[in-house]
Amino acid sequence: MASKLMSPAPNVSRRYLRQLPRTPPTLSHLPQRRYVSAYGYEQAKALTFSDYGDPPAVLSLHTHSISPPHSNLMTLRFLASPINPADINQIQGVYPSKPTFTTTLGTAHPIAVGGNEGVAEIIALGDKVKSAGYKRGDWVFMKGPGFGTWRTHASATPEQVVKLDDSMRDGISALQAGTVSINPCTAYRMLRDFTHLKEGEWFIQNGANSGVGRAAIQLGRKWGYKSINVIRARDDVKQLDKLKQDLRDLGADIVITDAELQSQGIRDQVKEWTNGGREPINLALNCVNGKAATAMAKLLAPSSHFVTYGAMSKQPLTIPASMLIFKDIHFHGFWVSRWAERHPEEKMKTVADVLDLTRKGDFRDTPFEKIAWEWETGGEELVGKVKDTLEGYREGKGVFVFGKT
Ligand SMILES: NC(=O)c1ccc[n+]([C@@H]2O[C@H](COP(=O)([O-])OP(=O)(O)OC[C@H]3O[C@@H](n4cnc5c(N)ncnc54)[C@H](OP(=O)(O)O)[C@@H]3O)[C@@H](O)[C@H]2O)c1
Repeated sequence: MASKLMSPAPNVSRRYLRQLPRTPPTLSHLPQRRYVSAYGYEQAKALTFSDYGDPPAVLSLHTHSISPPHSNLMTLRFLASPINPADINQIQGVYPSKPTFTTTLGTAHPIAVGGNEGVAEIIALGDKVKSAGYKRGDWVFMKGPGFGTWRTHASATPEQVVKLDDSMRDGISALQAGTVSINPCTAYRMLRDFTHLKEGEWFIQNGANSGVGRAAIQLGRKWGYKSINVIRARDDVKQLDKLKQDLRDLGADIVITDAELQSQGIRDQVKEWTNGGREPINLALNCVNGKAATAMAKLLAPSSHFVTYGAMSKQPLTIPASMLIFKDIHFHGFWVSRWAERHPEEKMKTVADVLDLTRKGDFRDTPFEKIAWEWETGGEELVGKVKDTLEGYREGKGVFVFGKT
């Protein structure tokens, strides 16, 4: 079989050969070589699941092939796809937006591909896609959640993707493009759409070292807002000091731990920071909940806004009734997917704005842990990396960066 795989007989379908094990057991010590089809079939690998559950238990690497695109189909090769908390929740089955379970990837039972965000390049396209203005080499990201981005390749239609114009791509890395559409957009809209903060006014946020939090610090600073940033403490004091300094370097005015936020003297401290209370805190951004979120709400000025967009602590949000009745605090929820569905053009403008700031050096990337995904990378290794992201206190967000796939 080994010799057949190396040199296929002319009358044996290459597509059929592609279904065979890539490397026979006897040759497993040799580097695997990717089969490039003369007929345009693309070999692909994807991290998939057939049942909801704990990601390490349900995810596995699935190999399949993609037919040459015709008509309104295009073949994508992924470049960078992050591992976001929502991706984990989606695999666990507790996220409102469900993935697409399908048998089109060549399985008897429906499977779904993990991941919701990422950037891919078009490597082949049908006539209708060409006439819709796309070409080979264009970069696209997914229009909405549920497509599955933890994969080397995919087949897509123009309705499923959004193209990054050449001007938007200019000077932008695949990693930056692959991570712009969710976290920075979320921070941008939450700072802009719930209240009109004037220059010099304050907002407060928890999860401040998250991708969203770091984006909010930078955008807030750019727009002249001051920020109080709440993070979880680290056992290692040096590590904690470094994290606080990292956030101050991004533009954070104040960085405190959740324990400091809940300490006795916090009101006096805040008064001091906010010019004796003359500079009101008018907006809070919450992705944690629990007691730390309630403590944050207590620092808000009357009639201000409290936006919840995540639930990292898995605790409920508890609000004293007096905050609603007497203090007139407005509590909101925000979900960028729903907002983008309702405002697709505004979404592209937001993305373009963030990429523009990035290009000018005014918006820094979140710290990343690049997870190299080559053709040979094994499923166990990739699933292990997804498992690592379930632990807190990480130094960087895991992002699959695709090499020679
Ligand atoms: N609603 C939306 O449209 C929307 C959009 C984007 C993101 N989000 C949400 O925003 C949050 C942050 O996402 P991201 O991608 O920016 O995060 P990320 O960069 O992956 O960082 C995760 C953050 O969560 C914190 N965290 C982890 N476990 C925690 C716990 N048990 N209690 C408190 N904090 C904990 C981490 O703090 P440590 O460093 O201390 O572990 C870190 O700040 C998530 O909840 C995500 O689902 C929502």
